[in-house]
Amino acid sequence: MRSALLSQLADRFGSDKGSLHGDRHRYAQFYELLLHEERNSLGKMIELGLARGGPEDPQFGATERQCDSPSLGMWVEYFPQAEIFGFDISDFSHLERRHDRFRFFRGDCGREADLIRLREAVGRDVDLVIDDASHASFHQQLALKTLFPCLRPGGLYVIEDLHWQPPHIEASLPAVPRTYDWLKALQDGNGLTSLLWSADDLRMLAGSIASLLVLTDLQVPGSRYRNAIGAMRKRQASE
Ligand SMILES: C[S@@+](CC[C@H](N)C(=O)[O-])C[C@H]1O[C@@H](n2cnc3c(N)ncnc32)[C@H](O)[C@@H]1O
Repeated sequence: MRSALLSQLADRFGSDKGSLHGDRHRYAQFYELLLHEERNSLGKMIELGLARGGPEDPQFGATERQCDSPSLGMWVEYFPQAEIFGFDISDFSHLERRHDRFRFFRGDCGREADLIRLREAVGRDVDLVIDDASHASFHQQLALKTLFPCLRPGGLYVIEDLHWQPPHIEASLPAVPRTYDWLKALQDGNGLTSLLWSADDLRMLAGSIASLLVLTDLQVPGSRYRNAIGAMRKRQASE
């Protein structure tokens, strides 16, 4: 069945976006619903965060590791034409040798200069950005602010795991509202200013978003934890 393909790939490659591995978020079914029509034409995507077990995970915490990326495996197979840009605090450059459509940028979502380096390399015609990196609010919002301009009109920006912020990282970063609350406020038309977002920044962002969705729990039987995911579609030039 067409609507199950991405979930099957997530399970085959070991991503927690599927229904078998890690926290079994089942986000793959949400991506499939939104993206299956673009499967064979999607030209560029970015994923922030490439494999479980980075500094956000108190059990592992490693940045020096050489491992595979389950989600990269699944995206390479699902989008046969796409150029895929990966960004991570750990080094995944070895995967460029395995996948000729993959380019890796090593960097920290908390460092604007690293995100700008990525932004300048990818151009302004990206179809899809997925933030599945540390899940810390400051990182999520700095990345959104820096990378939203890369999206083409009609492109999609997704932030995963809004329900959980790693406490040790969240506490060590500049204080901003939780991204879940910040997105809900943006959706309600009020907006929450902070050191990252002036009232003008919020107005500009709100004016360039065609639709904004925040889903919680996603009705996911079998998931081990709660889920929450946010998605924004960039406005078409003519809207
Ligand atoms: C949840 S995992 C990604 C899982 C992967 N997308 C999948 O579906 O299989 C999070 C990743 O984010 C990376 N990460 C953590 N903190 C980061 C930061 N500050 N900047 C960039 N990447 C970070 C970790 O190294 C780890 O690879």
